[in-house]
Amino acid sequence: MSVLILGATSRIAQSLAHRYAENGQSVFVAARDAEEAAAVAADVRVRTQGVCASGRFDATDFDGHAAFLETVIGAVGPVEVAVLAFGDMGDQKTSEADFEAAHQVIDVNYTAAVSICERLAAHMSDRAGGSIVGIASVAGDRGRQSNYIYGSAKGAFGLYLQGLRNRLFKAGVHVMTVKLGFVDTRMTFGLETGIPVASPETVSRALFEAQRAREDVFYYPRFWRGIMGVIKAIPEAAFKRLTL
Ligand SMILES: NC(=O)c1ccc[n+]([C@@H]2O[C@H](COP(=O)([O-])OP(=O)(O)OC[C@H]3O[C@@H](n4cnc5c(N)ncnc54)[C@H](OP(=O)(O)O)[C@@H]3O)[C@@H](O)[C@H]2O)c1
Repeated sequence: MSVLILGATSRIAQSLAHRYAENGQSVFVAARDAEEAAAVAADVRVRTQGVCASGRFDATDFDGHAAFLETVIGAVGPVEVAVLAFGDMGDQKTSEADFEAAHQVIDVNYTAAVSICERLAAHMSDRAGGSIVGIASVAGDRGRQSNYIYGSAKGAFGLYLQGLRNRLFKAGVHVMTVKLGFVDTRMTFGLETGIPVASPETVSRALFEAQRAREDVFYYPRFWRGIMGVIKAIPEAAFKRLTL
């Protein structure tokens, strides 16, 4: 039984790969740059003495997803846990001016996630077990002018995972929606925020434990559940006037 981690160049993904390998599980890390994925896998093997294979995964190569999953299963066996850590925040202003940019953000964060999750769902249902972890975002909880293209794709992903969780519950397959707040990664480089930023290592520890506890919807840092509760409660008539 193995753990599949998609988006292996993410520091959150790398830290998670170490945790699962340290836990004795066989890991497969995948990224759109196969050499980067191989380097991540080598690092995991050296540091944990565990099993870690790697391969190429381009989220928007939808037609290649079925063959990709077969490759993973051939390399490390049936997938017990799959973590979708890939994502693309894009640039809101560019997306407003150029639909192709918006399309890319929607395809990576939503269409691709649905495509690979449906294949994982079939694989795990057949085996009557498994766990799918989708990394969404607090940005998906309410549309804001500063990032609503990315936010809407992550929000749609969250809604999709909710339906998938409902569908797979009776098959014994666990689906966890992760709603991350700010994390110190490439994605947030240079972002100025008055809100504390989590490290990839603390995020991976929390996600690892939450996945094993079979949580359904997991906000991290946890205080974001409260923040988003307040933001979602603001009446639309007032919200549309805010600069957020
Ligand atoms: N950092 C935050 O504050 C924050 C907050 C909320 C949610 N998240 C989510 O957390 C997850 C991890 O992101 P991160 O913060 O660690 O940022 P990151 O370092 O930018 O990681 C994003 C990952 O997605 C991969 N990716 C992008 N487009 C892809 C494609 N077409 N095919 C395959 N992989 C692709 C990237 O691969 P390349 O190296 O090839 O680009 C990279 O591995 C993402 O889903 C992100 O949306 C992050």
